[in-house]
Amino acid sequence: MSHDPLNLAWRALQARANETRAVTLRALREGDPARGKRFAREAAGIYFDFSRQRIDDDGLRLLTSLADAAGLRARIDAMWRGDAINTTEGRAVLHTALRVPAVSDSAPGGADIARQVLAERERMLSFAEQVRGGHVKGHSINGNGGSRITTVVNIGIGGSDLGPAMAVEALHPLTHDAPRVRFVSNVDGTDLANVLEEADPAGTLFIVASKTFTTQETLANARSARAWLAGKLGEAAVPDHFAAVSTNAQAMDAFGVNPNYRFVMWDWVGGRYSMWSSIGVSLAIAIGRERFLEFLAGGHEMDEHFRAAPWDRNLPALMGLLGVWNIDLLDLPTLAVLPYDGRLKRFPAYLQQLDMESNGKSVDLDGKPVSISTAPVIWGEPGNNAQHSFFQMLHQGSPRVAVDFLVPARSSSANQAQAELAIGNCLAQAEALAYGYSLEQARAELMARNLAPERVELLARHKVHAGNRPVSIVAFERLDARTLGKLVALYEHKVFTQSVLWGINAFDQWGVELGKKMCEEVLPWVRDPELAASRPLSALLQQLKSWRE
Ligand code: F6P
Repeated sequence: MSHDPLNLAWRALQARANETRAVTLRALREGDPARGKRFAREAAGIYFDFSRQRIDDDGLRLLTSLADAAGLRARIDAMWRGDAINTTEGRAVLHTALRVPAVSDSAPGGADIARQVLAERERMLSFAEQVRGGHVKGHSINGNGGSRITTVVNIGIGGSDLGPAMAVEALHPLTHDAPRVRFVSNVDGTDLANVLEEADPAGTLFIVASKTFTTQETLANARSARAWLAGKLGEAAVPDHFAAVSTNAQAMDAFGVNPNYRFVMWDWVGGRYSMWSSIGVSLAIAIGRERFLEFLAGGHEMDEHFRAAPWDRNLPALMGLLGVWNIDLLDLPTLAVLPYDGRLKRFPAYLQQLDMESNGKSVDLDGKPVSISTAPVIWGEPGNNAQHSFFQMLHQGSPRVAVDFLVPARSSSANQAQAELAIGNCLAQAEALAYGYSLEQARAELMARNLAPERVELLARHKVHAGNRPVSIVAFERLDARTLGKLVALYEHKVFTQSVLWGINAFDQWGVELGKKMCEEVLPWVRDPELAASRPLSALLQQLKSWRE
């Protein structure tokens, strides 16, 4: 058995988990009336309450020792220095550089990177302002000078879609004086069809967002959009209606993107970490320069906190450590993310890519199999809606789920009375999930209604809530641009923390490649099932083809 510090730290945690697994959240609360305060931290305007996690002081101390033993501090420093910590692709990981406010030697990756970032940010933001101000116009038809842009369509997928789409939705109240911003991602053509149904070609600007500019879905949608536009306004109109963000200049040339409307990104930004770069141009158009800078500032504030705070006061590190405790020590492999602000409705989808594409790995940095579970299954919906759909399972079902609630103090809808209802619901659910409702409580309630004893006994069993579901609450004052930046960076660094604890690379995504490659093989069969006549897939291909004819 290995005696290296990391192994020892894992074993100590395992031993502690074995000792405390049977201790309920009720018992923890009863044993420590100050728990609500002692197991909560505030930093950068985010209040993180983890008093409903099944952890005690010793468990917490052992978790922070795990962070030390895994070398989290050194890994953070390596990321900030710009070391090629994405080892399989030989790339630095510098999304933190995208949020620096100014050039400095201490900026992630150094002053040169910061200089490039600020220059490109300025180009992108001034383009966004020109679109918002009506100075970027559509193609001039019969000398009319071109129409004002009223609809902006971001065409991208994965990291080139989810972040900006989530943020435009989240910051909806800040988008009123902007063109409508829409998002097209799926390959099946439905997103695009919906958008084109309402779009005026003369006032529509498409932004093709693709780090590689080779992604099948994005190119298919971009080509269809281009054909639609050229069909309506003529081929010559294309450069006035297509902007792009990519590392692939050649492909942008080939597509006919206006040289003034193209923005670069860098290999050291992963797609799912790229909304802070020009990939966020659709967001910048929606909320404007100042708000976009606030969004970056929020991310930067969380970066500074992550870099400096000791583990037991470090929100991303704590969140990462508690996640590992739940996944690996308490066997809770799924995490439901449940915002109590409807404008965060795309946040769970955004986190699915961030977390599962980053940490859905089963070999370590040396390619050796990891012996423990890695990324959680992330899922979720706005919490209040979910109360009326799947919360039944959270409370009483046999699958056990860990939960993150996100809750603002002030409503982004300006309806404070309803925001209070949302807060009440959120906290009530947190209490119910954590502390449950015992058989004795249920019996007492039913006996007070004078029911027959056998009826009491039957119903009481149905009414028991076992509780003990771990809940974290992420609370904040209101959902503004700065806060959204903090929340996104909080989860980014949580994911990074966990990758370090598991010894895996959070920044590659080989698992998405096989399906892409196989699609190249399957596509000709879809078009002509005869080519696959001897394959097991043949019957299904024939059936689908017969329905298409
Ligand atoms: O399919 C996975 C992926 O490579 C993501 O990592 C990425 O965010 C997405 O595809 C889109 O890639 P691109 O921006 O190059 O079009």
